[in-house]
Amino acid sequence: MRIYLDHAATTPIRPEVLASYTQALSAVGNPSSVHQFGQDARNTLEAARESLAGTVGANRSEIVFTSGGTESDNLAIKGLFWQRIAEASNRNVIITAATEHHGALDPIYWLADHQGAEVVLLPVDHRGVFDLAWLDNYLATSADRVALISLMWVNNETGVIADIQSITDLASRYGIPVHSDAVAALGHIEIDFAASGLATMAISGHKVGGPVGSGALVVGRSVKITSLVHGGGQERGMRSGTMDSAGAQAFALAAKLASHSLLDESARLASLSGRLIASISKIAQDAVFSRGDAPGLETTLNFTFPGCSADSMIFLLDAAGVSVSAGSACTAGVNRPSHVLLGMGRTEDEATGALRISLGYTTTETDVDRFLDAFPSVHASAKKAGLPSK
Ligand SMILES: Cc1ncc(COP(=O)(O)O)c(C=O)c1O
Repeated sequence: MRIYLDHAATTPIRPEVLASYTQALSAVGNPSSVHQFGQDARNTLEAARESLAGTVGANRSEIVFTSGGTESDNLAIKGLFWQRIAEASNRNVIITAATEHHGALDPIYWLADHQGAEVVLLPVDHRGVFDLAWLDNYLATSADRVALISLMWVNNETGVIADIQSITDLASRYGIPVHSDAVAALGHIEIDFAASGLATMAISGHKVGGPVGSGALVVGRSVKITSLVHGGGQERGMRSGTMDSAGAQAFALAAKLASHSLLDESARLASLSGRLIASISKIAQDAVFSRGDAPGLETTLNFTFPGCSADSMIFLLDAAGVSVSAGSACTAGVNRPSHVLLGMGRTEDEATGALRISLGYTTTETDVDRFLDAFPSVHASAKKAGLPSK
């Protein structure tokens, strides 16, 4: 049996979700049709909206269903930027960080390249923690030029958890909207959108045991965004296109199950990750735990292994039946050191040896045993092979 320790890339669909999803897929009906089939599909969609809103502490009218995290980040960032710049043309600064996911970074740099945005990078320390004193100082002198702030709640590579509340407290003094990519946070930490002070928040189905291609942007009721897609005016005009009732229902159920099992699961997962951290540090004594002592998820463990190439370790682990990752799956196909670790001040050589081990609801003691059985020889071989020549 192969061992899957790459839950941060995508999490296996939960059996209850699969059952309800496949059943819902067999039903016909466009939620915008007035006949009974349409109304049944509408009821499924609205029940999903209500349920998801409850799970993330939002109002049902604040949920905009999308195809996932990338689309939600794009809608929030471009939508907020266009809205804010239309209100005041000097407001073109987007504050973000080099450690953000590409789903957020790329639309921001697209706005810089094509629409006159100015990107200002918030410094992060070597653990990946945002420098909020810097943000405080920057806003004190330049707040009137800021269109929006986009900072993720939990980093998908290192698992570091941001102090979102302090960020929104600072931004609210100047009325600046804050978007957060909460894709890696949902189902891992408690999320209360209403209390967070966020303007918008991106979430995705396949990271919580729902189907790939489902997700949502939570948009505060008083927040205005310009739509990316124009058409039938679905989702309060923010996301036109026939709604996917089955996908929305499956996503809402997965989010509920993941969030409800947080407390029950956290002790079990903490014990598994504690064992992994202690054993890896013993096997590879020069390994560096990337987020250090910063607050982070039990389920996402990122290490750098000096003198080793992550690609060699992944290949050797895979041959031993254990699947882990070098960082973000969205860029893993490209053989480059993680931009997140580089953003945290690691050298290219250090970032080349970064491995991410991510656990989830299916992870067992046996999975951890299998990883720890394979790892000593994998690490020794990778160390012997050294870094790829440049
Ligand atoms: C933090 C983060 N944001 C956004 C995304 C993109 O989400 P999706 O795959 O649903 O487009 C991912 C997926 O890797 C992610 O980890």
